[in-house]
Amino acid sequence: MKVLVIGANGQLGTDLCRALHDLEVIPLTHDDIEITDIESIKEVFNKHEPDTVINTAAYVRVDDCETDEEKAFLVNAIGARNIAVVTQELGAKLVHISTDYIFGGESDSHTTPYTEFDTPVPLNIYGKSKLAGEDFVRHLCQRHFIIRTSGLFGVAGSSGKGGNFVETMLRLGRERDELRVVSDQVFSPTYTKDLARKIAQLINTEYYGIFHITNKDTCSWYEFTKEILSLAGLKTPVVPITSDQYPQKARRPRFSVLDNYRLRLLGMDDMRSWREALKDYMKEKGHLK
Ligand SMILES: NC(=O)c1ccc[n+]([C@@H]2O[C@H](COP(=O)([O-])OP(=O)(O)OC[C@H]3O[C@@H](n4cnc5c(N)ncnc54)[C@H](OP(=O)(O)O)[C@@H]3O)[C@@H](O)[C@H]2O)c1
Repeated sequence: MKVLVIGANGQLGTDLCRALHDLEVIPLTHDDIEITDIESIKEVFNKHEPDTVINTAAYVRVDDCETDEEKAFLVNAIGARNIAVVTQELGAKLVHISTDYIFGGESDSHTTPYTEFDTPVPLNIYGKSKLAGEDFVRHLCQRHFIIRTSGLFGVAGSSGKGGNFVETMLRLGRERDELRVVSDQVFSPTYTKDLARKIAQLINTEYYGIFHITNKDTCSWYEFTKEILSLAGLKTPVVPITSDQYPQKARRPRFSVLDNYRLRLLGMDDMRSWREALKDYMKEKGHLK
């Protein structure tokens, strides 16, 4: 099987290329392909004639999406559309990566994990643009997998965000006397290595449609930070604050936990807890005390 990975040097793309090592992988960076330009996609796809395309490329700066709405929709919606159209023409499978931020806009008091059968209501421009991308993929490419995930951390760090939350907290934990972190946004942090392994399994199947894939168990950003610092042996105090005390351009869902429901129905949900995954990540990065 020949697999094109778009965004191959990104956080998830890097681990995907590793997880797919026994297949023929064509890694594509932003220098190789521009997803907002359909001609660029046609040129690359026609050259390689892939059996499967994995699109990890996105405009992932959640706050910047609020001020650059056009770029958000151009990359996250039109870019996804362009890939879906050309993949369909080739008759290939398409894996499209989406986000938990398509949920959370209906109520601040929602506390039940979202399944693939719940109706998305996004809260911010990033979520709206990613949902529009999902819709294009669903309607324009028959053999699609839409993978929704959340709070990614991976050894490569997010190219678009300039690192990841774990690395930022470790740096701030060393620099500052105290960290103040929001405790009223709950989600499931997810290690890109675990997500990549699961995607590698799924692409061998015909189980098309939407999948939620996150590590098991949930936490707030505050709890996540406490665990990160504790594993690194840092004693910096962490103070829980509310989202109102930490204003950001984009509103975030209070609760965006995804239930890996479809994986479970298929007997494929062996995702480990985020705590175990984080420990593994910290070990790999040499941060573990
Ligand atoms: N990070 C998270 O916490 C998180 C959570 C939930 C879902 N997701 C989703 O997971 C996916 C992967 O995220 P990630 O953290 O791995 O992101 P990332 O590290 O920023 O990787 C994205 C890659 O896409 C490339 N790219 C961006 N715009 C492009 C364009 N117009 N044409 C071609 N390539 C382009 C980037 O290249 P350059 O940097 O060189 O532009 C980069 O290599 C995204 O779809 C994101 O929405 C992420």
